[in-house]
Amino acid sequence: MKQFLYIVAFSVFVVSLFAGYANFGIPEIQPAPPPSQEAVDLSSMDMDTFISLGEKLYTTKGTCTLCHNELGRAPMLDNLDGLVAQRLGDDGYGGSAKDVASYLIESMNEPSIYVVKGFGKVGTNDQESPMPDVRSGSIGLSDAETLAIVAYLEDASGLEVSVEIPQGESAPVEEAATESAGSERAHYTTGEEIVAVLGCGACHKIGEFQGELGPDLQEIGSLRDREHLRRSILDPNADITEGFVPMMPPVYADQLYASELELLVDYMASLK
Ligand code: HEC
Ligand code: HEC
Repeated sequence: MKQFLYIVAFSVFVVSLFAGYANFGIPEIQPAPPPSQEAVDLSSMDMDTFISLGEKLYTTKGTCTLCHNELGRAPMLDNLDGLVAQRLGDDGYGGSAKDVASYLIESMNEPSIYVVKGFGKVGTNDQESPMPDVRSGSIGLSDAETLAIVAYLEDASGLEVSVEIPQGESAPVEEAATESAGSERAHYTTGEEIVAVLGCGACHKIGEFQGELGPDLQEIGSLRDREHLRRSILDPNADITEGFVPMMPPVYADQLYASELELLVDYMASLK
């Protein structure tokens, strides 16, 4: 009996030792909050940081470089002084912008107010822009994010930045918005998620998105086999859908793990 009590006492001692170790010895791991809830603090930001925030937004959440790139399907935005003077001086200009910043904001929020010649939506005689309103749908920029992009574009053209860093409640900028799809990200788990994050909806009608520049994908599963769908992501210019210009960026192969590519193909194949 005495030996039994001894064993019990010893066990209690060992267990409490472990409990103690677990409580005090192991550093507590703080689970990271989901990135989308973290807002960037603009109140303490200087202009250089605001400009680099704009640069990140331009290539990530803003998806601007999907279209504004050397493929030439949208005007380049790197010589704004001359470009904006020319637009505002055009007889066909009917907007209300007065300077570079207001022209940029107007172009982003209401792209069809002035459509650059030759760049309009097919069949609209340059009356409608294929560029989505950046506040809506697949892009969804806040006003503060739009201003950051304006600051970046002005700076990139060698101009004095004319916008101020917005303050207070009206300035939500999501931390996650500026993260690019890198190797350290979490794996995507559905095709819908991939379409939303990679911005396919800027150009395609797919799911909730209403893009106009590429083929309508709402029933692509009944038109194309998986092999074709896979190739259209891996090598978008291998075969060009009739009636469209080759402007789908050949960048997705680098942004997806193989298993994720299959998820995306599964999703598209299911659209019937
Ligand atoms: C889906 C393709 C697409 C995306 C995405 C896109 N644009 Fe555009 N953008 C265009 C096209 C096409 C035009 C030319 C037609 C027009 O004038 O609207 C244009 C025109 C513009 C103009 C006017 C250029 C000029 O020469 O007068 C500005 C400024 C602009 N875009 C900024 C942006 C910014 C900033 C973003 C990202 C937040 C963006 N665009 C995203 C396609 C796109
Ligand atoms: C900048 C605009 C743009 C973006 C962004 C874009 N595409 Fe496209 N896509 C096009 C255009 C234009 C075509 C037609 C020309 C071609 O076949 O290359 C096309 C073709 C396709 C096709 C072939 C359609 C057919 O009729 O066979 C598929 C599938 C497709 N895209 C899927 C996607 C997916 C998925 C994404 C996102 C990962 C995406 N695209 C992003 C413009 C875009």
